[in-house]
Amino acid sequence: MMLLYSALFLLVGTALFFFTLTRGALLLRYATGNTQHDAAHVYPIYANMKLIKLIDFQPLIGAILLFQYDRLVNTIVAELEQMDLKEKRVLITSCAFGNVIPLVAQAASAQGVKTLLIADIIQNELINAQGKLKDFSGEIIYSEENAIAMKQADASVSANVIFFLLHELPHHLKTQALQEAVRVLEPGGKLFLAEFHRPDPWALRALSWTYFKVFEPYGLALWSTHDPLHQLCAMRGISCQRKTVFFGNFQVIVATKQALVT
Ligand SMILES: C[S@@+](CC[C@H](N)C(=O)[O-])C[C@H]1O[C@@H](n2cnc3c(N)ncnc32)[C@H](O)[C@@H]1O
Repeated sequence: MMLLYSALFLLVGTALFFFTLTRGALLLRYATGNTQHDAAHVYPIYANMKLIKLIDFQPLIGAILLFQYDRLVNTIVAELEQMDLKEKRVLITSCAFGNVIPLVAQAASAQGVKTLLIADIIQNELINAQGKLKDFSGEIIYSEENAIAMKQADASVSANVIFFLLHELPHHLKTQALQEAVRVLEPGGKLFLAEFHRPDPWALRALSWTYFKVFEPYGLALWSTHDPLHQLCAMRGISCQRKTVFFGNFQVIVATKQALVT
């Protein structure tokens, strides 16, 4: 019985901790009118260095993604390994916890990438990412920028990786972020997008729905009005493929910009 109470206490405590530092913090921000800045939608867990260090722990991040983290990252890495990136630039739009950044960097490096560009709206996230890339020998540019208005030129990168950003953006920003992601791609370039997806089994769908309603209300629109596959496929010159994993709960989209015909 004691064990059951302890497990329950741990579960409720963890849920409260994450609620306070995600949705709860956003509700407080809206209640106090503190929303007039570009990063108003960003949770404190991505802004405060102590919280970043506390939460950026691979087993925890793997568990949050229902132990599918490696599978999703490996899908992106396998795609990068098919690309010729000699003298090219690869972009990671927004940092993410866990080892996705070093693994993408490693794959890009093996393919001969010239510059790895890491962009995030929060400086502390860039500093944290820097700590994970000490072994990377190529050129890295860390750039504080907003995914909805990137500082990068049109057609300036060969690959762009976006790992679980969209579900955290208010809906109108989701569309803008996708447009920017495609704008910066060179012809023939690829966008790799990992995200949540509408699960097939009703029980998982109900759990997932509850999770989004409580913690991440911007996420549910990915199932319907803001399905990134539909939004990307509607863009001129973009072809897309989607792979879903874990009963449809997650997706990796590969969007390719049509190469120039010479
Ligand atoms: C990619 S998302 C969440 C990833 C996922 N939950 C994880 O860490 O595994 C979190 C990152 O996106 C960044 N971010 C949020 N909004 C952004 C925006 N508009 N432009 C650029 N970066 C943004 C945050 O600063 C944070 O580093």
